[in-house]
Amino acid sequence: MGEMGSDEATKNWVLMVTAQCPTNIAVIKYWGKRDESLILPINDSISVTLDPQHLCTTTTAAVSPTFDTDKMWLNGKEISLSSGRFQSCLREIRSRANDVEDQEKGICIKKQDWEKLHVHIASFNNFPTAAGLASSAAGFACLVYSLSKLMNVKEEQGKLSAIARQGSGSACRSLFGGFVKWVMGNEANGNDSLAVQLASETHWDDLVIIIAVVSSHQKETSSTTGMRESVVTSPLLHYRSKEVVPKRIVEMEKAIKTRDFALFARLTCADSNQFHATCLDTSPPIFYMNDTSHRIISYMEKWNQFEGTPQVAYTFDAGPNAVLIAPNRKAASLLLQRLLFYFPPPSDTELSSFVIGDKTIVKDAG
Ligand code: DP6
Repeated sequence: MGEMGSDEATKNWVLMVTAQCPTNIAVIKYWGKRDESLILPINDSISVTLDPQHLCTTTTAAVSPTFDTDKMWLNGKEISLSSGRFQSCLREIRSRANDVEDQEKGICIKKQDWEKLHVHIASFNNFPTAAGLASSAAGFACLVYSLSKLMNVKEEQGKLSAIARQGSGSACRSLFGGFVKWVMGNEANGNDSLAVQLASETHWDDLVIIIAVVSSHQKETSSTTGMRESVVTSPLLHYRSKEVVPKRIVEMEKAIKTRDFALFARLTCADSNQFHATCLDTSPPIFYMNDTSHRIISYMEKWNQFEGTPQVAYTFDAGPNAVLIAPNRKAASLLLQRLLFYFPPPSDTELSSFVIGDKTIVKDAG
């Protein structure tokens, strides 16, 4: 019926698939590539994937013989697919496409037809783009996953993660829930640079993640540019990737496996601080954190010291927003009380909202 090449009347079908992917927060950071075009990192990294209700991307991928070009919309606005990163993901998925049949709609797409067919992709983030939390991680993971479902790609999740990696490095970790390691790999073609799940989302579900939005402004230096400059100019980055991270990865895996919050918190905070130190060690230096970020670090350090045992772990990505991880709901509620005490809304600082990674609470001070 709707088989490719049949008469015009049967060409009006549209086949679509919708998928959701959450973002992830690195607790041992990826910073620096050894291959820019394949996106191969200089060290392993470990992250925790957020609950899919929060900071997630929903993507619908559609195919129809009436589409004459590949197109994509992000939050309702058309964006260009011309970048090498989109093209790599599309090419890799297309090359693994299989026959697709939808008997109800009378559609039959043959493996070889995918080279001629075009796709339309619509992606939405469930968090305000203005919150400064927009991340390419959920976006590319969702793009690759939805296209793979549409085209009946049979690769296992790890192989898909190696494709998402070519969209944005951190995206490979969003293909799995729970705790995820991105193994840097050794092969020149990048086939072994992929994500593996260390523990499922139920393994340590007491943890509560709170994101304190310090600033909603777009960062001045993108991660891609920042890490490129660090690779070229920061001696600390090379020491970090060779001497520090490999040992930290082993310890972090142990902390996760044994649910050792004290060790987890110590490693997470130390790794965030070292990542920002490499940014300062870059020439010209990159400043992702601001005064409010520094005040948060200092309050959290004081609290942990006062209690004698860590009550919170903090980590900052390429921006000033704080990701705070509490060992349980009780510690999380104390943490929120403290944040509200030190940064009362409406605040003279820019700290304005909290996203709680366990239950849906988005609090706007404004
Ligand atoms: C600080 O994955 O955004 O969040 O691979 O160039 O797209 P590209 O960079 P990206 O970098 C993320 C950097 C980080 C640390 C991390 O997520 O591990």
